[in-house]
Order: sequence, then C-alpha cells, then structure tokens
Amino acid sequence: MRNAVVCMALSLTATMAGAADLVAGAAKAETCVACHGPGGISQMPETPSLAGQPDGFLQWQLVYFRGGARKNPIMQPLAAGLADDDIRNLAAYFAALKPPPPGANGVAEPAMFAVGEKLAKQNRCASCHTEKYSGVQATPRTAAQREDYLLKALRDFKSSRRTGGGIASMADVVYPLGDDELHALAHFMAHLP
Ligand code: HEC
Ligand code: HEC
Repeated sequence: MRNAVVCMALSLTATMAGAADLVAGAAKAETCVACHGPGGISQMPETPSLAGQPDGFLQWQLVYFRGGARKNPIMQPLAAGLADDDIRNLAAYFAALKPPPPGANGVAEPAMFAVGEKLAKQNRCASCHTEKYSGVQATPRTAAQREDYLLKALRDFKSSRRTGGGIASMADVVYPLGDDELHALAHFMAHLP
C-alpha cells in the first residue's frame, strides 16, 4: 500500500517534469544505497551523499565514470552497465531527494571553520558552487557533504587523479592551495548551516 502511494506520487512528479522516469530511477537506485546510504545520505567513509545534488552534475559524473574520464575502481564497473536512460532516471531520482541536513556532520570546530570560510571567500568558491553551496547544473552541492569525501575530492583534483570531463576549473582552483587549506575548506563546507 505504502509502495503504491509512493509510486503514484513519484509517477505524478515524473509526468509533471515530463522527462526522466523516477519510478525506474528508484528501482535502479536500490543497488546504490548500499554505499550511498538510505535516502542518498552516505554513512560510509569517503563515499559521497547523492541526495539533492543537481541533476546535471549527477548525469555528467556517471557519464564520466562510464567513459573512464573519471577514474574509480568501484564506480567505473558499476557505471559501465548503465544505459543513457538509466543515467537520466538515476540522476533525476537522487536530485529529487532531500539533501543532507545542516549539522549532518556534527558540530564545527570554530577556528577551522573560520579559516575555511576565509579561504572560500578569497578563492571565490561560491561564484560557481552558489551562495549556499547547493550547486547548479554541472557544479556539485558541497554544503553538508561528508567532510572526508570533500577532502578526498580536493586532494584528487590537486594530484590530478580526478580530472572529470576535462573541465579544468577545479584543477586551477586547488593548484595554489596546500593540504592544510584543503582540510579547512572541506571542514567549512561540511558544516555549512
Ligand atoms: C560499492 C559501493 C558503491 C556502490 C554500490 C555505488 N557507489 Fe557511487 N560511489 C562510490 C564511491 C566510493 C564514490 C567516490 C568515488 C571517488 O572517490 O571518486 C562514488 C561516487 C559516485 C558519484 C560521484 C558523486 C560526487 O559527488 O562526485 C556518483 C554520481 C555515484 N557514485 C552514483 C552511483 C550510482 C547511481 C550508483 C548505483 C547505480 C552507485 N553510485 C553505486 C561507491 C559506490
Ligand atoms: C570556476 C568554477 C568553480 C570554482 C571557482 C570552484 N569550483 Fe569546485 N567544482 C566546480 C565544478 C564544475 C565541479 C565538478 C568537477 C567535475 O566535473 O569533475 C566542482 C567540484 C568540486 C568538488 C567535488 C565535489 C563532489 O561531490 O565530487 C569540491 C569538493 C569542490 N568543487 C570544492 C570547491 C572549493 C573548495 C572551491 C574554492 C576553493 C571551488 N570548488 C571552486 C566548479 C568550481
């Protein structure tokens, strides 16, 4: 019964959006929540929450994993089996979920938060990630994302392990920053109110 109601609500939303199939996305997402967490909120170290990420960002990252432009031994084989429609439906499904709430990562350490906030201003992170760090189009939400994952992502950009689809923006951004600064930035974004 509950499932039927959820299905009705989801298919209604899908009809209104007139594009992706959220019911198919939800079914396909059952394999993803083992790592990305129930409701798309990750409880697993170095694994990102997907809930509330921009639809476009999620689609691009899955396309990058599928084509090998973004390298990861876990995600590449998983994405290799996805058709274009699966990617559209999965992205729409996770984008529609409620993002991690403020405080999801516990209480901030005030001094470190302040250092991160200052660095974010100096480096104009919000100019792409948006004022509230909720992301837009191909740029991810970083607000309340897991701190360990944010730090890993920044280190991967810095070491060129992650280049994504050839968008050079993040590589340029992290190039002049040291590891302590990456740490403070991750702490700041993970604890945004
Ligand atoms: C076995 C664990 C596991 C499973 C199952 C899994 N993922 Fe992942 N996923 C990861 C890890 C770990 C990363 C981080 C990769 C990295 O560090 O670059 C990731 C990254 C991602 C990203 C990039 C997000 C970002 O913020 O950069 C997307 C999108 C994604 N996964 C979607 C999916 C989808 C959709 C499924 C189901 C079809 C899925 N994943 C299943 C472990 C998993
Ligand atoms: C010019 C635009 C731009 C600026 C400025 C920018 N970013 Fe990004 N950021 C992006 C884009 C686009 C991506 C996705 C990259 C990809 O597709 O691989 C991204 C990805 C990220 C990610 C990975 C998140 C995830 O879920 O995988 C983190 C963390 C991040 N940015 C943090 C920052 C921080 C911190 C700053 C400031 C020091 C910053 N960004 C400045 C555009 C920008």
